[in-house]
Amino acid sequence: MSITEPNSLLSVPTGALQISDRPPSKMGGETIVFSLVIPTYKERENIKNVVRVLTRLLDESIPKNYELIVVDDDSPDGTWEVAQSLTREYPQLQVMRRQSERGLSSAVIRGWQAARGRVLGVIDGDLQHPPEVLLQLFRAIEEGADLAVASRHVEGGGVSRWSFIRRFLSRGAQVLGLLILPGVLGRVSDPMSGYFMVRRSAIAQVNLSPVGYKILLEVLGRGQVQEIAEVGYVFRERTEGESKVTSKQYIDYIHHLVKLRLDTGTVAKLTQRLGFPIGRFLRFGLVGLSGVFVDMTVLYLLSDPHTLALPLTRSKIIAGEIAIFNNFLWNDVWTFADVTMRQQGWRQRLKRFLKFNIICLAGLVLNVVILNLVFNFVIQNRYIANLIAIAIATVWNFWVNLKLSWRVTEVK
Ligand code: GDD
Ligand code: MN
Repeated sequence: MSITEPNSLLSVPTGALQISDRPPSKMGGETIVFSLVIPTYKERENIKNVVRVLTRLLDESIPKNYELIVVDDDSPDGTWEVAQSLTREYPQLQVMRRQSERGLSSAVIRGWQAARGRVLGVIDGDLQHPPEVLLQLFRAIEEGADLAVASRHVEGGGVSRWSFIRRFLSRGAQVLGLLILPGVLGRVSDPMSGYFMVRRSAIAQVNLSPVGYKILLEVLGRGQVQEIAEVGYVFRERTEGESKVTSKQYIDYIHHLVKLRLDTGTVAKLTQRLGFPIGRFLRFGLVGLSGVFVDMTVLYLLSDPHTLALPLTRSKIIAGEIAIFNNFLWNDVWTFADVTMRQQGWRQRLKRFLKFNIICLAGLVLNVVILNLVFNFVIQNRYIANLIAIAIATVWNFWVNLKLSWRVTEVK
């Protein structure tokens, strides 16, 4: 082998986590068949073996028609540096060093964004995924599958020396996933697998937005995957380095499931079609209903002859304000939780509350005006007129609060 310069580092794609339908036509526009991403964090002791074994396998089956892409999150043990030094010996290898973004799932997607292959794959960088299975996965894609998943739960699959607790947790997570997203997790036997291949066309042009570890959920949930193949494999024990899984990954996993559910469910589809946030509006309406109960209860406690017997107007003002406060709290933590999450702090919250208050008071004025207009000019039934007034005031309250109180200002 001649002495050459190592490949320079791949630049890290920025912006949305979206894969183009056409591979970037770098290097004279040549496309290749297969790109395999190897996400790494502190895998210094493993990376060389991984690259050696994978290269040997792929050189035999699809020589010159593949690339390996190591995506390292700036590992303190210098994994990226070791990987880059290997590119001299393995010209099919390229390395991306990420410094401002972190996390397994986004690492995989950033790698795929830089990839030139028509088929995109992922494999762990610690040799826990047996490399030989790669060829079976590849064959499945060639035979027509859009997605080929290495699975611990089909024939030939399993785990090596897992304790009862670990098996239980793993299966429990799967059952939980089936409950939240049956249409996604039910399609494969091992939805937690991080070892699979997918046709570029099946995941191109969609906005991916994974949380945490389980990138396959994202591919299944948002991609256009028709045919799926599964190949059994035994998850091996690590010999070098250590697993990065902590309890945070369990939280991330649940967060990811809920997010996928909200983003891809019926309500989300309707929202997109109508251009109106239906789910939010329903939540806002429910909160409003809770406010009616609060208002009624407080009014009773303050003004009823059997309780405090305060004057009606004074009681109503207090009841109304408490109801507004109630509604604000629920809307802040529930209806607009996603917005609130990005604008924390008491000052911000107080600002939202004041805006909400003013808008709701304006809504009350609107309510009275419309009640009068409808009653005098449209329909001589005070209850129907009131319903119409309430409906219009609710839409007003919702829309203006959406635009002013819980507005997201993107700050670059
Ligand atoms: N770039 C990057 N950034 N890589 C990461 C990060 C990260 O934040 N965290 C982990 N990795 C890399 C590791 O270096 C390893 O190559 C691979 O991702 C898997 O991480 P492990 O910590 O070894 O996870 P595991 O052994 O528990 O494997 C589990 O997750 C895999 C990935 O989803 C199992 O569920 C596997 O079946 C699954 O393939
Ligand atoms: Mn591992």
